[in-house]
Amino acid sequence: MVIVGIVAIDRNLAIGKGGTLPWHYSADMRFFKQTTIGNAVVMGRRTWITLNKPLKDRMNIVLSSQPATTNSIVTLPDVKSVLTLAGSLTRDLYVIGGAKVYQAFLPHIERWIVTKVPLSVEGADTFMPANFLEGFELSEVRQLDEELRVKFYERVSEARP
Ligand SMILES: NC(=O)c1ccc[n+]([C@@H]2O[C@H](COP(=O)([O-])OP(=O)(O)OC[C@H]3O[C@@H](n4cnc5c(N)ncnc54)[C@H](OP(=O)(O)O)[C@@H]3O)[C@@H](O)[C@H]2O)c1
Repeated sequence: MVIVGIVAIDRNLAIGKGGTLPWHYSADMRFFKQTTIGNAVVMGRRTWITLNKPLKDRMNIVLSSQPATTNSIVTLPDVKSVLTLAGSLTRDLYVIGGAKVYQAFLPHIERWIVTKVPLSVEGADTFMPANFLEGFELSEVRQLDEELRVKFYERVSEARP
């Protein structure tokens, strides 16, 4: 089981605006689906709200202090509970956002998969932590289409406590 962060960022590390994704790239949606399918995904309550329904063929885990309102997802109250559940899985755990959840899982992520969006979103209000790739090394670059590149990073040094 590997814990993998997967995110799309603009030129300024923006990931969200007004509670949603400030862009739509079909190639990235396809890549996200192909990469995460068959595995577990963990997201924050605000990101869950944007989905409307669980991501198909994946175990959907939502981090929230509030109890679940549907039994199609697993709601857990803290990172420790997610790590305990993930430890019992044979599948990987993909951390799919948003910013609060990326921040909370930062010390536990072993690999980052980062789509570089060629935009500077005006009025963006949600950003990746500036240091999220500290301790990681670039391992692969993949071109998704003419516009989009995905960079893969592997952890090379222990996370700071
Ligand atoms: N570009 C991308 O790849 C990408 C990916 C995902 C999301 N996004 C964007 O990011 C934005 C949402 O991000 P966000 O940071 O505002 O919200 P978020 O991380 O999706 O959700 C935050 C909520 O999750 C719960 N939570 C987070 N950390 C927790 C912890 N350590 N323990 C317990 N509960 C925890 C809390 O829910 P309770 O209040 O219920 O306790 C918190 O209010 C949206 O604009 C979305 O579109 C972008």
